[in-house]
Amino acid sequence: MATTETTHPTVQEAKNPNADRKSPDPPVSQSSGAPGPSTVAVHAGEARQKPGDSITDPIYCASTYTFTDTQSIINFIEQDQPREEYGRYGNPGEKVVEAKLAALEGAESAVLFSSGMAALVGLLMAKLSQGDEVIFFDECYHRSRQFCKDHLSRYGVVTHEVKTGDYQALENAITPNTRMLVSESPTNPHQSCVDLERFAEIGRQHDVETMIDATLATPYNLRPIEAGVDYVLHSATKYLGGHNDLLAGVVCGSKQQMASVRDLRGIMGGVNGPQNIYLLSRGLKTFELRMQRHNENGLAVARFLEAHPRVEKVYYPGLESHRDHEVAAQTMRGYGGLVTFLVKDADWRQTADVVDGAKIFRIAPSLGGAESLIEQPLVMSYFKRTPEERKKFGIPDNMIRLACGLENSEDLIADLGQALG
Ligand SMILES: Cc1ncc(COP(=O)(O)O)c(C=O)c1O
Repeated sequence: MATTETTHPTVQEAKNPNADRKSPDPPVSQSSGAPGPSTVAVHAGEARQKPGDSITDPIYCASTYTFTDTQSIINFIEQDQPREEYGRYGNPGEKVVEAKLAALEGAESAVLFSSGMAALVGLLMAKLSQGDEVIFFDECYHRSRQFCKDHLSRYGVVTHEVKTGDYQALENAITPNTRMLVSESPTNPHQSCVDLERFAEIGRQHDVETMIDATLATPYNLRPIEAGVDYVLHSATKYLGGHNDLLAGVVCGSKQQMASVRDLRGIMGGVNGPQNIYLLSRGLKTFELRMQRHNENGLAVARFLEAHPRVEKVYYPGLESHRDHEVAAQTMRGYGGLVTFLVKDADWRQTADVVDGAKIFRIAPSLGGAESLIEQPLVMSYFKRTPEERKKFGIPDNMIRLACGLENSEDLIADLGQALG
């Protein structure tokens, strides 16, 4: 058998370029200030030396945790020791992910839930009581508004909706019973962006807490806590998990404000299984890299569509033509992978033909994963709504929503080009 010759030096032969340098001091990091988002995403919350000397965190498949004897239970209770007791109250892997998410968000505390909706329900149930009022910007996720209007109302909580971005209407809707102001930024699918400092200031002036669902932005692109917002919520199902393979949700805030949310989660039980927690932790390791690609792909696709003769309008906050571009440019690092557009002079069927013509984009709801997705909101989310309702929500028949994934932007653009014909 022929041997392969190599001209590369072997490990023993390779000369260490620093071998002659005398350096009595240990190496120090060259960076100054806070670690960057990737360093945080990779390392935050993790013990340096882990069980079994493993570099990755173990998956703790435990529904319960053992005590050595009766006294150790009493010590745990009396001294509030930081250890696990029962799966519904916590899991060691969950603590790692919560610490990572809190560090990424710049928050004191993060509480993980089994989905974004479980996180929203957990936060609002923990914070609102009979007679309290909550005000939503009207472009918020329809299930979030539905939970408040159809379900929290049964417990005496009153929900008001005001036009997204109308800060005067928001302020006018506040009463002595108002406890929380809620918005998304950017919103879905119109991608309206909130002036976070103004939103937070209105809350502070009226002694009302504020919450931003920043699912579409992520902590890489938007910093609501730094702008003074009380709570930030994410459907971690999307960019944080990042691979279209898990459901999870998180709420971040101060330790003191999050204590009641954590307590209620322990009672309601909307917790993640250990494998799910590991998948989320694994997804977060590449968070910054993925977000950079989502941002690049989103902007490239939006610019392509804006110049296409078959496109009537594009909703993407990174485009100068977007209504909230100025706010977005001031507050966001990048604009994400979600791109919404209208097909020119197309009825619902002709629009569906564009969706069906895509070969790389897969037809599905959701966003934030590796695979690019395409959908027609009329069909996917508003099919059972009347034309009047769709008009009210701003969902025309010729609207298409894209969630640009991690593929190469040239391929995504070519795919949309052939689908548009
Ligand atoms: C902005 C936003 N918030 C919350 C949710 C709910 O998240 P989940 O599907 O993880 O329950 C969604 C889901 O699509 C969403 O788009």
